[in-house]
Amino acid sequence: MKNDQRDYLHKPMRVGSFFAGIGGICLAFKNAGYEVIWSNEMDKSACKTYRKNFSHLLIEGDICSLKPTDKIFKKVDIITGGFPCQAFSIAGHRKGFEDKRGTLFFKMLPFIDEYKPKALFFENVRYLKTHNGGETYKKMKKVLEKRHYYICDRVLDTCEYSMLPQHRERFYMICFKSKKHAEKFEKYGWPEKIDPKNRLPFNDIINKTADEIHYFNNYPWYYKDAIKEIDDKSAFYQWRRVYCRKNKNGVCPTLTANMGGGGHNVPLIMDSRDLRRLTPQECLRLQGFDDKIFVFPDDISMSSRYKQVGNSVSVPVVQSIAKNMRNILENLEE
Ligand SMILES: C[S@@+](CC[C@H](N)C(=O)[O-])C[C@H]1O[C@@H](n2cnc3c(N)ncnc32)[C@H](O)[C@@H]1O
Repeated sequence: MKNDQRDYLHKPMRVGSFFAGIGGICLAFKNAGYEVIWSNEMDKSACKTYRKNFSHLLIEGDICSLKPTDKIFKKVDIITGGFPCQAFSIAGHRKGFEDKRGTLFFKMLPFIDEYKPKALFFENVRYLKTHNGGETYKKMKKVLEKRHYYICDRVLDTCEYSMLPQHRERFYMICFKSKKHAEKFEKYGWPEKIDPKNRLPFNDIINKTADEIHYFNNYPWYYKDAIKEIDDKSAFYQWRRVYCRKNKNGVCPTLTANMGGGGHNVPLIMDSRDLRRLTPQECLRLQGFDDKIFVFPDDISMSSRYKQVGNSVSVPVVQSIAKNMRNILENLEE
C-alpha cells in the first residue's frame, strides 16, 4: 500500500497539549499530520499569540485548577508537555522540586491516568536529566513507568538535527504504552544528524537592517571598546557581560526567554548598518517558524515576543520526532 493511501485511511491521531506557550510543539505535531484538539496555557500574552495562529480550543488558566473530568476536555491519543524549565535550567537557581515550577510535570498525571494516551512527548532543558545527581529525572521516570509507559530519552542539539543554525540542546522524552513501539522508536525514531553544509545560511535568517530600537548603541550595557573587533557581517556574536564573543561554528547561541532585556548571553549580529540584537521575527525563523504565516498580534510587547519565542521549541526537530512517532504508532501493531 502506498503511503498516501495509508494516510487517507487513517484518521489523524488526536493531541492534547499542556504548557503550550505560543504553540511550537502544537505546530510541529500539526505539521506531522496529527490533530491538536485542545491545549492549555496560563500566560495571557502567550495565549493571545496562540489564538492568533491556531483555531482549536485553548484553555487559558493554571493547570493546577483543571480536572480531566471537566467537560471541556476530550480524550486524546497523545499528550505533549513542554513543562516549565526554570527549576532545572542552568539560568535559574535549579531548586528542582523545591520550586513550585519544578512540580508542574506531575500535574499532567491525572490527565494521563484518565485518557491513557498511546504516547507522550515531553521537552525540557538538557540539565533536567542530571539535576540533583539524576534523582529528579528518576522520580519522573518512576511515575511514568508505574503507569506502564516505556521511555526513550535523548539530548538533541537543534543545529545538529535540523537545518536551523541555532545551538539549542534540549532533552526529549518520548514515552509509549507499547514496549514494541518504544523499541522501534529507540532504533529508528530519533532524527538523523544533518550535514552541516545543509544548514540554512545566515542571510536566510537575518534581515539587512532592523528598526532603530534593536541597535546596540541604545543599550546602557554598551561598551564601545568591547565591540571594536566585530567586523564579520555573516557571523553570530554573543554578549558575555563585558565583552562580545564570536560564535565560531557559524550558529546562533541558544535563544533565551530573557534576551529582550539585553545583557549576558544575548545573541548579536553586525548588519549593514551597525551592531544589533536579533528581531523577534528573526528569532521565530531560528526556531523554525515560518514568519510569513506565524505572527504576533500587534499589541504584544517587545519583551513578551522575545520571551515567547525564547521559551518555545525548534519546530523542525519536534516535527521529525512527531513524524517518526506517527509512523510507528500507525504502522506497527502494539
Ligand atoms: C517552556 S514554556 C513552553 C513553550 C511551548 N513549548 C512553546 O512551544 O511555545 C512553558 C510554558 O508553561 C506555562 N506555564 C507555567 N506555569 C503554568 C501553569 N501553572 N499552568 C499552565 N501553564 C503554565 C508558561 O506560561 C510557559 O508558556
